[in-house]
Amino acid sequence: MDHSEILNEAKSIINGSEKRDEKLLAICQLLDREVEVFDWTGFYLVAKDEENMLELGPYVGEATDHTRIPFGKGICGQAAETLQTFVVQDVNKADNYLACSIHVQSEIVVPIMKGDQFMGELDIDSHTKDAISAELQSLCEDICKELSAIF
Ligand code: SME
Repeated sequence: MDHSEILNEAKSIINGSEKRDEKLLAICQLLDREVEVFDWTGFYLVAKDEENMLELGPYVGEATDHTRIPFGKGICGQAAETLQTFVVQDVNKADNYLACSIHVQSEIVVPIMKGDQFMGELDIDSHTKDAISAELQSLCEDICKELSAIF
């Protein structure tokens, strides 16, 4: 699938009748299956029981110890504070980084907004350095824009 086909497939998942978490998992499976360099694909959502906290949502990949991440901590927490896409092409050079697995080399985190409200984020790890091309970044951002509809 090329990127426009992946985006179309994501849109049809989003417009389906499943529950939100089932849709989020289906999007993880889609990205994991279709993008060779993506090795861990998941969502962190704003925790309901604590302020300024992310909690792990649906994901595909190895289990992670980072099931709750405070805003500001790691790449995920920094994206939650800045509300900007955060791309790290070499995690070995990042200082505020939470290691998920020793194999991870690059990472992208894209916030999901509903209007001006932060709802959560898409987090993707790659075992390849410099894996996050501008096209892959756009694809992830386009999917996160569409996801706003289910929050
Ligand atoms: N590496 C992330 C932590 C989450 S794992 O990648 C699943 C970070 O630095 O926030």
